[in-house]
Amino acid sequence: MNMPQIKPITYDPSAATIAEHGLAADDLAKLAPQLDAARDEVLADAELWDAGGDVPAKKQPLDAGFMELPQRLLAEYRARRDDSELGRILSTARRLRESVDRVVVLGIGGSYMGARSLMEGCCHPYHNELPRGERGGVPRMYFEGNNVDNDASQGLLDLLRGTDDAWAIVVISKSGGTLETAAAFRQFLAALRTSVNNDEKLIAQRVVPVTGSSGRLFDLSAALGCPDVFPVPDGVGGRFSILSAVGLLPAAILGLDVVRLLEAAAAMNARFKDAPVGDNPVLDYVGVSHLMERDHGATMRVLSVWAKGLESIGLWYDQLLAESLGKTEQHGATPLTVLNTRDLHSRGQQHQAGRRDKLITNVIVEAWRRDPLSIGISELDQDQLNVLADKTLPEIMTAAIAGTNKAYAEDGRPTTDLRLPQLDEASLGQLLQMLMLATVVEGRLIGVNPYGQPGVEAYKKHMNAFLRGE
Ligand code: PA5
Repeated sequence: MNMPQIKPITYDPSAATIAEHGLAADDLAKLAPQLDAARDEVLADAELWDAGGDVPAKKQPLDAGFMELPQRLLAEYRARRDDSELGRILSTARRLRESVDRVVVLGIGGSYMGARSLMEGCCHPYHNELPRGERGGVPRMYFEGNNVDNDASQGLLDLLRGTDDAWAIVVISKSGGTLETAAAFRQFLAALRTSVNNDEKLIAQRVVPVTGSSGRLFDLSAALGCPDVFPVPDGVGGRFSILSAVGLLPAAILGLDVVRLLEAAAAMNARFKDAPVGDNPVLDYVGVSHLMERDHGATMRVLSVWAKGLESIGLWYDQLLAESLGKTEQHGATPLTVLNTRDLHSRGQQHQAGRRDKLITNVIVEAWRRDPLSIGISELDQDQLNVLADKTLPEIMTAAIAGTNKAYAEDGRPTTDLRLPQLDEASLGQLLQMLMLATVVEGRLIGVNPYGQPGVEAYKKHMNAFLRGE
């Protein structure tokens, strides 16, 4: 596939190699045979899935469809343009951009965290506050159906009822039966109905469902006559679905370059397949994280993000890792996203001097999108900042990262650095695919099926029983 140059993201684990509490210089190389075997298994899973072969019982469930998804969507788009799935996503996004000024995305877990992380990663930080022109002519976006918080839902309904702006709903649920999302859909659909004076045609046009090929939401969409319904493809589980319509449709509505996002993910797939341990961000990240957990008790994985736009990506990853590997009572490190420098003032003390159960992975953006903002000179120098007047926020951030890494190294706290050239679609596509691949590789390495989330069923069953008085 002929793809434009993507500046690669990098993973540098050298600061995890420290005496006593960290790795020895050759630890990762020694683990290479097991990492290679886990990669082979993951690639074989993807091939098996693509070939539609029988999945052996011990591999069930096998949602390996996410791996080849970027290449498949791009190839189809290049061959069939408007008739392809991506072509349809782009044209529905265009239709919504042109007809409404607000979009409510309903979904929970894997059915909304990806879309939110793409919005926060790539849009203006105050996107929803800006006038349409300054938003690049794209709608405001809100997320609901991810809780049953009465006042939060009422708050959003207040906002929608109080505006003359046209608005639409993108409702996302793979199963189509998740109570939080289903209840919100009913409530927001009623509000939408009122806002369009019960115009059935407009209602159908202003609801875009993303769901499995059967189920309650699928049936509701048919009953509403929605012209555009998108699939969560078979073999793509909720938390692995960010690069399907689940994440791509909201991203395209926001005007993000979803083609670039997919190209970047495909580039990460190619690196994953070909590069050896020591030069492979997926295998190196898994190897270092696993060794720190196995040999040094680092059961906490701290994803330390150094840009506000990355916090939601951290939360998306928390969900991905926790639901995928937290299964057998013994395995599955606990993920924790921290946003720095903010959380240095809340969690920093513990990470510096608390229990030695953490591996810190920094996620660092190398180039900021906007011009650097300097502190500036002031006649009032009581704060004694004139001496730093020329320093910019990027310079202060760089010093904070270096200072924190140095302080952690002095206390024998292992850290690693994931570096993104920019906070944009090219970097995020690589990062998202890298973290999804890493999660399944680690699952195969430790013998935990990364797909499915049987543990979550228990709360659903009990909640339903309480509600229905069973
Ligand atoms: O990763 C997962 O599969 C889950 O987090 C689901 O995305 C979440 O439970 C929502 O499920 P559904 O899309 O079926 O409503």
